[in-house]
Amino acid sequence: MKLLVCGGAGFIGSNFVRLRIAESDDQIIVLDKLTYAGRRENLADLDGNPQFLGLQHGAIEDADAVATAVEGVDAIVNFAAETHVDRSIAEPDAFVVTNGQGTYTLLEAARREQLRYVQVSTDEVYGSIDEGSFTEQSPLKPSSPYSATKTGADLLVESYFHTFDLSAAIARGSNNYGPYQYPEKLIPLMILNAMHGDPLPVYGDGLQVRNWLYVEDFGRGIGHVLDHGVAGEAYNVGGPDECTNMEVVRRIIELTGASDDLIEHVTDRPGHDRRYSLASDKLKALGWSPQTGFAEGLESTVNWYRDNPTWWESIRSGDYREYYARQYGRELG
Ligand code: NAD
Ligand code: DAU
Repeated sequence: MKLLVCGGAGFIGSNFVRLRIAESDDQIIVLDKLTYAGRRENLADLDGNPQFLGLQHGAIEDADAVATAVEGVDAIVNFAAETHVDRSIAEPDAFVVTNGQGTYTLLEAARREQLRYVQVSTDEVYGSIDEGSFTEQSPLKPSSPYSATKTGADLLVESYFHTFDLSAAIARGSNNYGPYQYPEKLIPLMILNAMHGDPLPVYGDGLQVRNWLYVEDFGRGIGHVLDHGVAGEAYNVGGPDECTNMEVVRRIIELTGASDDLIEHVTDRPGHDRRYSLASDKLKALGWSPQTGFAEGLESTVNWYRDNPTWWESIRSGDYREYYARQYGRELG
């Protein structure tokens, strides 16, 4: 197959492109706007690989850019999105444009060219759950502007299946972690702050629970939905382990040798979802299962950040400093 991977220069997209090239004969072209979260460096090791057809710089809401990118492709996998909940609370505009208008623009192209389409979605569309796990039948009840725009995108995808018979499926992942994750997210933020002796800002009591999924396991799950998923269906792709944010932070402290004194409880996120948990039996029935446990995945993630300072030094010395000061009310050390 020839795949168009939108948002392939971001965290999960770049890991997916690398994995898919290693594990299939597919050829891949990437369309990416290269926002603060999208980086050419994330794909640099694939330059010269005959299966990697290159990166087209452009936005998914730009119909002309999309028309060029889809020429000759068999399928679209859409990772492109504004993804950070805190940014969606501070400035929702870009979330509506990219996650809403952008998804619509891709769906129109897929419909016109009769392409297979996979939408990369999130457990956040279901909202928060105190006990048990969400199935694909659970009602959609998003809490943040981020998750509301992702839910709108999922509904649009389903409508293109029902109305236009588009061969579209949805992969809903739980919280990912691994190499190349931008350090605004919990795990890389805590790893880099711990390595630098900066405070570790825990929102509220830190007893919120997340269902952690190693990024390669999500990549294989999305590949499974692409190859075997039934059109019109959504598939949960949940991680094997759940833990509280405090447990995550304490494990990072152990792995980096930082001091417990760095932990600082700060003002909670407005509308903060307490717990996410996915039941993934539907995708498991198609042969997928997560391979990496949280202890193993977290250790290799800490090692990756330790071994790749050139990747994060340019981020921590750039615009990220301003974002950090705005979000946390203090300068990064
Ligand atoms: P990310 O923020 O690291 O990357 C997003 C990518 O999309 C970047 O390369 C960025 O440049 C690109 N992009 C943003 N706006 C664009 C636009 N208008 N046009 C083209 N490209 C654009 O995000 P991520 O964590 O890799 O998430 C990828 C996808 O997976 C998203 O759809 C997200 O909702 C979903 N998801 C993420 C997680 C998670 O834990 N990170 C879990 C489940 C689902
Ligand atoms: O669940 C899937 C979702 O996971 C994806 O759809 C989103 O794109 C992705 O950003 C992520 O959302 P979360 O809000 O769960 O991830 P985040 O890393 O921002 O936060 C994880 C938890 O850690 C959450 O309970 C908030 C908390 N947190 C986060 C940050 C950045 C802190 O306590 N302190 C922090 O500084």
